Amino acid sequence: MSFQIPRGTQDILPGEVEKWQYVEQLARDICRRYNYQEIRTPIFEHTELFLRGVGDSTDIVQKEMYTFEDRGGRSITLRPEGTAAVVRSFVENKMYGQPNQPVKLYYIGPMFRYERPQAGRFRQFVQFGVEALGSNDPAIDAEVIALAMNVYQSLGLKKLKLVINSLGDVESRKAHRQALIDHFQGRITELCEDCQARLEKNPMRILDCKKDRDHELMATAPSILDYLNEESRTYFAKVQTYLTKLGIRFEVDPRLVRGLDYYNHTAFEIMSEAEGFGAITTLCGGGRYNGLVQEIGGPETAGIGFALSIERLLAALQAEGILLPISARIDCYVVALGEKAKEEAVSLVHALRQAGITAEKDYQDRKVKAQLKAADRLQAQYVAILGDDELEKQIINVKNMKTGEQTEVPLASFVQYVKNALV
Ligand code: HAM
Repeated sequence: MSFQIPRGTQDILPGEVEKWQYVEQLARDICRRYNYQEIRTPIFEHTELFLRGVGDSTDIVQKEMYTFEDRGGRSITLRPEGTAAVVRSFVENKMYGQPNQPVKLYYIGPMFRYERPQAGRFRQFVQFGVEALGSNDPAIDAEVIALAMNVYQSLGLKKLKLVINSLGDVESRKAHRQALIDHFQGRITELCEDCQARLEKNPMRILDCKKDRDHELMATAPSILDYLNEESRTYFAKVQTYLTKLGIRFEVDPRLVRGLDYYNHTAFEIMSEAEGFGAITTLCGGGRYNGLVQEIGGPETAGIGFALSIERLLAALQAEGILLPISARIDCYVVALGEKAKEEAVSLVHALRQAGITAEKDYQDRKVKAQLKAADRLQAQYVAILGDDELEKQIINVKNMKTGEQTEVPLASFVQYVKNALV
């Protein structure tokens, strides 16, 4: 019997995992600079949270959730995204009462969606996301967008497009909703079944339909920007002013509606424009969700955030031919020949490691030549060779692999020698 990995998931093996570590560390460092703190919430939550939080007219809730009953008969769902869970935790832990507002949080972890797998689309993927809760200042919208752009740009990505839109406040959306109903109603049967259901529940979702994207009614649909009230218009204008001040280029796209129900005011996506990136070009998506905290049972609180997947980020790096500065080199390989020397090598690599040096030795009882080859494969900076004769004399030969220079070093000062040589 043989086993295969489930569709839409992947093993991240040594050689590849270093890229993940690099990118995740970079994201953490950038969050530190912007003063966002990490939050870790469970991989699964009660299903009701996502019905409420993500919205029951969304594709995620309708078609993509990994939902099951646990042994206690409760409906549990593997998290399809991070925002609902962060807001749940924000409310549950009464973070709205903390003296430091807004509460600025970030997370990195796996999310699960039962989607049709294809390039850039997985069933388990890792999102890095941030959420800023408790501020209605358009400057925080600009900050969140700047943070996302900063992550990509620090990695050297250039072919990026930032698209923004405003979904307005409740009043603006109500007006737009009616206009959409009027627009689609007469010919709704020309659209897919999902869109027909969306007309009543959430007509804005129609604009996000993957099937009917090219239908002529889509291009002529009323634009939300024409329905923004004064307050929403002013808010959106301020966000744009701040972005311009920060030197962040953007396009306004009134068709950007996003796939989750909780958004209002600012919505944005970052796409890759690299050639050969593939059909799915969205790298990052986010926006403002001012009603969500209340929806989840907390006090009225503003919120904005984004999430991006590491999978798509790495794909963008590959499409732009960017190599990350990752080194898998080890510092020192200890080659031993002879029984006594082999025994001593066990202690020597231990001592090196205790001193903070990356060290390796042979465990396959290989001949000297094969040990040297292994050291070569690991790109050891120094190779220390110990035979029974050297051991007798309490010395060891240390070779600098870059210069070829060999030095006879007293065993007693071997660790210190390597340590000094490495600086
Ligand atoms: P989302 O647009 O559903 O938003 O997902 C955000 C990002 O997650 C996407 O832009 C993409 O990079 C990645 N992503 C989504 N689905 C997949 C998949 N199947 N495979 C690989 N990557 C994927 C959210 O999840 C919101 N919670 C974002 C947010 C945070 N809004 C406010 N705060």
